[in-house]
Amino acid sequence: MKEVKNYIEKNKKRFIEELVELLKIPSISADSDYRDDVFKCSDLVAHFIKEAGGENVQICKTPGFPVVYAEKIIDPSLPTVLIYGHYDVQPADPIELWHSPPFDPVIKKTKIHPDGAIFARGSCDDKGQFFMHVKAFELLVRTNTLPCNVKFMIEGEEEVGSSNLSAFVKDNKEKLKCDTILISDTGIISNEIPSITTGLKGLSYVEVEVTGPNRDLHSGLYGGAVANPINILCDMISKMKDSDNHIIIPGFYDNVLELSKKEREDISRAPFSLSKYKESLDLSDVHGESGFTTMERIGIRPTLDVNGIWGGYTGEGAKTVIPSKAYAKISMRLVPNQTDEEITKKFTNYFKKIAPSSVTVKVTPHHGGTPYVCPTDISAYKAASLAMQSTFGKEPVPVRSGGSIPIVALFEKELKVKSILMGFGLDSDAIHSPNEHFGLFNFLKGIETIPYFFYNYSKKS
Ligand code: BES
Ligand code: MN
Ligand code: MN
Repeated sequence: MKEVKNYIEKNKKRFIEELVELLKIPSISADSDYRDDVFKCSDLVAHFIKEAGGENVQICKTPGFPVVYAEKIIDPSLPTVLIYGHYDVQPADPIELWHSPPFDPVIKKTKIHPDGAIFARGSCDDKGQFFMHVKAFELLVRTNTLPCNVKFMIEGEEEVGSSNLSAFVKDNKEKLKCDTILISDTGIISNEIPSITTGLKGLSYVEVEVTGPNRDLHSGLYGGAVANPINILCDMISKMKDSDNHIIIPGFYDNVLELSKKEREDISRAPFSLSKYKESLDLSDVHGESGFTTMERIGIRPTLDVNGIWGGYTGEGAKTVIPSKAYAKISMRLVPNQTDEEITKKFTNYFKKIAPSSVTVKVTPHHGGTPYVCPTDISAYKAASLAMQSTFGKEPVPVRSGGSIPIVALFEKELKVKSILMGFGLDSDAIHSPNEHFGLFNFLKGIETIPYFFYNYSKKS
């Protein structure tokens, strides 16, 4: 489609400038110091969607950060596509590892992005990606080629578990009514190998606290005679997996949907180079559950990881102390048929059971999420697949991801609609890490591909 390419060519400089403006706002939802910035960001998102041609633009209040809603209904008898994304970002730390300030975007060329990539927190996750939809929508509106109805729902709490969004969805079913949901908040295998995400993991996230003596103690006077909560916590964590890296929480795998031989063969056909994977992470070997490939460990097997552990003295110099308390944050990524309620309960029971009587333990559940699978035989998936085929010149590979977007399973439950995960990021774009970036090629390719999705989907439905 010539119009699409022409429009992008003529306007790409402005597209990038506008994205830079969005990236300058430190909309960190996890850190209350940035509360005002998150609100400010919702205003700018609403502004951009309005400028692009969005109607009935609303900044919907929630008990947390607002949801930006907009729509363009051209004909109620045509299908409606809901675009979901998030304008909040992860904290930037460790800030000292950034080569340029996280909220002062710069464009630099890299080996993987020879056309340049934009470096900033949120550039790929998810500002750069949802902004592709705003620009593709602008293109369709301005060239008078929008083939169906569009709704936007861009939230500000994804990175902290979307806890207020479930109520918003339940309370606004009519407003969010649609035929399919299109999301760019995932990635592709590489710029040469397009892919579509067909699975997201669920999540059970807990914080644990182990308490020993009622105060910090002199480690000479008391060491060896009372429980050290840090030592105990490490022991307990080591009891979560056996030597095959199999999780030994009783019943953990009870509901795991095992894949057929054919499904596993399909996964093994997706292009993946273990040596490149190791090289990209400076690892001499990978690590994981015996009997499964790296792709399977990531895509179809549940996992358990400690995300943070603390306690005792970690300041300068040495302090001889037995701490009173030790803490850890632990996440379990779940696969189809596991539920976060079930897994959180099983974890809690086991954690309490293995605690020695010399300590007391507390488990606090954080946000959870249900796994999601997208079939490849539905019309919306086919529309996305054909769209990518048109712009990449290759049929995209279906890939199950290890990441989570908890609201996607909720959309399915509440709105009874499947989401299509057509993302354009690369694993090497360092989302959640220092020096996050998003390739300009990917940004522009996204804007080019999205209109094809609309055309294909509207023709089919
Ligand atoms: N966009 C990511 C999830 C993602 C990235 C999925 C790449 C697949 C491929 C999202 O913003 C995210 O970070 N989700 C969190 C979950 C949330 C509850 C904090 C995650 O996966 O850790
Ligand atoms: Mn995201
Ligand atoms: Mn994220």
